[in-house]
Amino acid sequence: MESLVNPHVLQITPYKPGKPVEDIQREFGLERVIKLASNENMRPIPENVRQAIRDELTQLQYYPDSDNYHLRRRIAEYNGVGMENVIAGAGSVEIIQMLIRAFLKPGQKVLTSEKTFSLYRSATTEIAGADAFVEAPMDRELRFDLEAIAGRIGAAAKIIFITNPNNPTGTILAAAAIRDFISHVHKDRIIVLDNAYQEYVDDPGDYVSGLEEIGQKRNVIVLRTFSKVYGLAGLRVGYAMAKPEIIAVLNRVKPPFNVTRVGQRAALASLENDDFRNESVRLNRRNKARLFSQLQGLGLRVIPSQANFLLFFPGVDVAGLNQRLLQQGVIIRPMGGFGIPDAMRVSIGLEEENDFFIARLDEALREMKK
Ligand SMILES: Cc1ncc(COP(=O)(O)O)c(C=O)c1O
Repeated sequence: MESLVNPHVLQITPYKPGKPVEDIQREFGLERVIKLASNENMRPIPENVRQAIRDELTQLQYYPDSDNYHLRRRIAEYNGVGMENVIAGAGSVEIIQMLIRAFLKPGQKVLTSEKTFSLYRSATTEIAGADAFVEAPMDRELRFDLEAIAGRIGAAAKIIFITNPNNPTGTILAAAAIRDFISHVHKDRIIVLDNAYQEYVDDPGDYVSGLEEIGQKRNVIVLRTFSKVYGLAGLRVGYAMAKPEIIAVLNRVKPPFNVTRVGQRAALASLENDDFRNESVRLNRRNKARLFSQLQGLGLRVIPSQANFLLFFPGVDVAGLNQRLLQQGVIIRPMGGFGIPDAMRVSIGLEEENDFFIARLDEALREMKK
């Protein structure tokens, strides 16, 4: 088979998502299984979004609007940009793939930090081979080290991903540091601000949304998603904002009809519901603070996070701990695939989910340390 395959594809390590709840229920004969593995919003979606989805069901025999007109118009209004600054995708992951396909020329490289979202690597590898992907080290606090990244730009780094807050560390960069970085990067490079977790940031006043930079016509692409705070991970809707020339290029590689009818309609409705978003942010902040101190209470190192997850170091064999947690009905994420083999990431769930997780973790750690 290998001789049939594009050699770039053979270099890809397949993305390993958190295990589905049903798999663990079946495997271990469990009734209660909680999944805190994919940084979703665990609250059920609000009624106005449900209603929008129901309304769309009568239209499913028709293709969706390939241009995502109504959704883009609302996103533009919501962010104070023009429609020509917006493109929508089947999750922001699809836009990551589109922009590498559209902008990476042969010999050019994609640059980011180590210990970040693994899709940048696989999307680059598929299109340009594993050698086209370069990682800079992080700083000691597990933040993106912009100096280290700047030092690796050289002649070849064409697309630079800055993940802020970063997945899986939850760390964030001060606005001044990012602005300074952007202002020093040569204009023929593309800077992607992956702002998937923007809504969770503690101090929006010290945060670079990227909109100002787009207004200044810099080669900045901002990625946003409906999968996190808006609770629509199952529908796959994300978007990018950039200057119109960049959006026009992305439109050349955008698959037609890429966002489903239901996805467009639900995303549109979710932008009408600030209460759901605000309440989700508030609950996340409260539950995160509680979980943070509970993890610390177990004597573990936890990284302060500005997103909807926590990275922690259990201090025991991660594979063994993960297996015990799965057997007890708790799905979280071992971080080997993100380059941190001694850490695990837990998404912030509802209060009772977090309590269930902490109780099972406590038991498993006691057992393992016996
Ligand atoms: C940093 C980051 N960017 C992008 C995504 C992709 O989100 P989606 O494709 O669901 O929009 C994720 C998902 O976990 C993420 O963590």
